[in-house]
Amino acid sequence: MRTIESIAELRERVREWRLARESIAFVPTMGNLHAGHASLIGAAHHHGRRVVASVFVNPLQFGPNEDYAAYPRTPDEDAALLAGQGVDVLFLPTVDEMYPKGTAGSTIIDVPELSGILCGAVRPGHFQGVATVVVKLLNLVQPDTAIFGEKDYQQLTIIRRSVEDLCLPVKIVGAPTVRADDGLALSSRNRYLSAEERAIAPTVYRTLDHARRRLEGGDTDVADIEREGMETLRAAGFRPDYFAVRLAGTLELPRGQDMDCVVLAAARLGRARLIDNLQCRATGVLPAPR
Ligand code: PAF
Repeated sequence: MRTIESIAELRERVREWRLARESIAFVPTMGNLHAGHASLIGAAHHHGRRVVASVFVNPLQFGPNEDYAAYPRTPDEDAALLAGQGVDVLFLPTVDEMYPKGTAGSTIIDVPELSGILCGAVRPGHFQGVATVVVKLLNLVQPDTAIFGEKDYQQLTIIRRSVEDLCLPVKIVGAPTVRADDGLALSSRNRYLSAEERAIAPTVYRTLDHARRRLEGGDTDVADIEREGMETLRAAGFRPDYFAVRLAGTLELPRGQDMDCVVLAAARLGRARLIDNLQCRATGVLPAPR
């Protein structure tokens, strides 16, 4: 594996692969890699002859009171994991390399229909930061395929929409969430949990699963499903931001029969903010939202 810090060298490597007609699969990350990321790399090998991973903690997607400075940075462990997974190039740019003119006032990619709801309602600017850095990275790596985890379902939806709206020639692939044995979705931010909080954390998965079973069983009372989810999380000690049933793929409010839905939750527990989701088929007739 070659670690590349400069855009010029990355472009040169990509140019050589393109000349040799080798396909490229790309996995963007913010590092502190775990088994969830390893599964994304595994998926990338199915999609490209060459695999590029990036590690870049993107300042543009953190709010002023968020954990940019504290975000776990483990470059040596990340490089070892990626090399072990057969990655060809690790792109490891500095903030200056990615934002030579700074982040303030730079060009921004926004999907206004999607960036202000759910997580976007409590993290203003976050999804603009994500979409902007992902489009920049896609322009640099020029992959045939890019892989993102389904755990960040709203992020994946926004990236798919940005790529479609901007006619970028890349296929976006979503990879299933990797979970601990007790159901907790793997996340770099799980390390913020104390032992006591870690024991409570799988409640998010269990609450989503209960909602999923209600919808699959024909229950159409979406408002009650959402209310019950919020209540269960609060009772377990979380400060939930939302518990929501939406249409899969678009995140629109659900209505209609036999709809592919996604149940999403975000909840704070101590220093950690956990997000997770489960997809399901709602079998009943979901009424038009009021
Ligand atoms: O999901 C992440 O790790 C980040 O949001 C991403 C997609 C790498 C953009 O910084």
